[in-house]
Amino acid sequence: MLITDVIVDLQYGDCGKGKVAHFLSKTKKYTHVLRYNGGCNAGHTIFHKGKKFVTHHIPAGVFFGVRSVIGSGCVLDPDQFFREIKMLEGGGVATRGKIFIANNTHIITQANKDEDKKKGGKIGTTGRGNGPAYREKYGRTGVRAEKIPALKPYLMDLYREWYSGKDVKILAEGAQGFGLDIDWGDYPFVTSSHCTTAGALLNGLPPSSIRDVWGVAKIYETYVGSKKFQPKGKVFDQMAELGEEYGSTTGRRRQCNWMNIQTLERAVRMNGVTHIVFNKVDVLRTIQKWAVYDNGKKVEFKTEKAMQDFIVKRLKSLGIARARVYFSESKERI
Ligand code: IMP
Ligand code: MG
Repeated sequence: MLITDVIVDLQYGDCGKGKVAHFLSKTKKYTHVLRYNGGCNAGHTIFHKGKKFVTHHIPAGVFFGVRSVIGSGCVLDPDQFFREIKMLEGGGVATRGKIFIANNTHIITQANKDEDKKKGGKIGTTGRGNGPAYREKYGRTGVRAEKIPALKPYLMDLYREWYSGKDVKILAEGAQGFGLDIDWGDYPFVTSSHCTTAGALLNGLPPSSIRDVWGVAKIYETYVGSKKFQPKGKVFDQMAELGEEYGSTTGRRRQCNWMNIQTLERAVRMNGVTHIVFNKVDVLRTIQKWAVYDNGKKVEFKTEKAMQDFIVKRLKSLGIARARVYFSESKERI
């Protein structure tokens, strides 16, 4: 048996995938948690036993002793990887024998990082060497993890692992989001990897293994990078302050806006979403303002319930039942 549940961000990253991954790792019985794309440009904020952790490479399974795999769709910075292991161990999370890197995962080199810090300013990258590392991968001049002696103890052959004959139940955790996807995002203001459900399959998984696809969104949108995103208005600054909208990787302030329904619908369809979590409902509740953009117009709501009913109705027309829509107001639960 080979089953894959996918977690995919439907907006521009930072929607709370880490929280959903942590929650599902705890409540469902997975044999593996797999990070399927991206590098240490990602930052997943996770509250575990009341403590805050920020991970960049290592998937959330590690908090529960589940085999945590950095997949072939990712690029890996070994320095950051070892720093993160130290950080987790220091925080009381046992990592020994639980963390793996696919043999064919590509490496982010020092030169990649130096280049990204210099040249990434134009689109506002995280400066973590992500773009240059993927360029070298596709230019066929890259370095794979199997070539780095220090990584030897962590290497994994994904073919042998997935097709061993034992039951394998994978939670595939994406990085970044649909709006930053190399193909479907707002190019060139995108990242260099495949952030969609399809990206999970690139890690040696068959389409037939996919069971549930958990789409994760925020009840408003945020974007961090150099394009202009936030409109004028005090309400957006309130969202940023109350939502603590500062990047977990770079500390940059995220720009905020109301949710766009058409962007959401596109992401739901293209990713085959079956379950959906809207995070940070508490932020708009505190501000006491609710709105979305629909077909180019701003639609305002008087109450939280009115907004949720509107969203649920739209999702229903895309085949997602009410029972599979979660509005979350907690940092630790969905
Ligand atoms: P890069 O992925 O570092 O090349 O950056 C490309 C764009 O993606 C920039 O706008 C970054 O701010 C954005 N980005 C990259 N990773 C993340 C993430 O994990 N969350 C949110 N935005 C991200
Ligand atoms: Mg993040």
